[in-house]
Amino acid sequence: MSGETDVLSKAEIESALATAWAGNEVYYFSEIDSTNTYAKRLGESQGGHGTLVVSDRQTSGKGRRGRVWESPSGTGVYMSILLKPQIRPDQASMLTLVMAQSAVRTIREMTGLDAKIKWPNDIVLNGKKVCGMLTEMTMEMDQIQSVVIGVGINVNTTHFPEQLCDATSLYLESGKKLRRADLISEMLRQFEYYYDTFTKEGNLSGMQEEYNSLLVNCDAEVRVLEPLNEYQGHAVGINEMGELIVRKEDGEFVRVYAGEVSVRGIYGYV
Ligand code: BTN
Repeated sequence: MSGETDVLSKAEIESALATAWAGNEVYYFSEIDSTNTYAKRLGESQGGHGTLVVSDRQTSGKGRRGRVWESPSGTGVYMSILLKPQIRPDQASMLTLVMAQSAVRTIREMTGLDAKIKWPNDIVLNGKKVCGMLTEMTMEMDQIQSVVIGVGINVNTTHFPEQLCDATSLYLESGKKLRRADLISEMLRQFEYYYDTFTKEGNLSGMQEEYNSLLVNCDAEVRVLEPLNEYQGHAVGINEMGELIVRKEDGEFVRVYAGEVSVRGIYGYV
């Protein structure tokens, strides 16, 4: 794509899609509060497995741990997929890692850049964040009613506010502008593939090795920030449940569960 603005529309997205079920229904907005909030609402009414919600701009984009996801128009991908998986609630957090794997593969294929996963689900380029994910689960009694995975990608962003010094975009790293509809289509194509791999075993065993090979924190020193606890250790990769295995300074191995935890490098974001 050359210098012009990338115009996104329902028709552009639908004609780019090459999937069997992911994106079987597409809701597109030029502006919405949050695609996750909308997809969650659909999940409580008529929305089916695979429904995709995309917006050109979000007015209340949600990040993990109560943060805001900056979502200006014309430059980013803000999408949420609604899933109705036949899995137990304790398996749901693995779906975010399935999406992370899909996102990192997509970014590598479309830009040729050495994108990596920062556990559990950020995608980084040259030590800066280019993509984040937020998974929200709705329960009915003790069963999953729906899972919504929201993905935000900084695509054609040319500059960031000063406070987002750890952020970058595909454009800033590659010098190329991308069609967002193509990116969405490839994300969903990859997601279908890895989702199938996940559902065969009900865990990440079929993709654990590949995930670890793309993990920026693999074989690296990390700081684990839990809501009430903080410690340092050496991360050795994920297990088949998607937990990060960390060897603490006293030699004890711990399994870190994604939830409300954040993992950082010892000198900064990565
Ligand atoms: C994070 O890294 O903190 C998660 C960011 C998730 C942002 C995406 S953008 C599309 C979807 N809708 C939202 O409100 N949030 C997610």
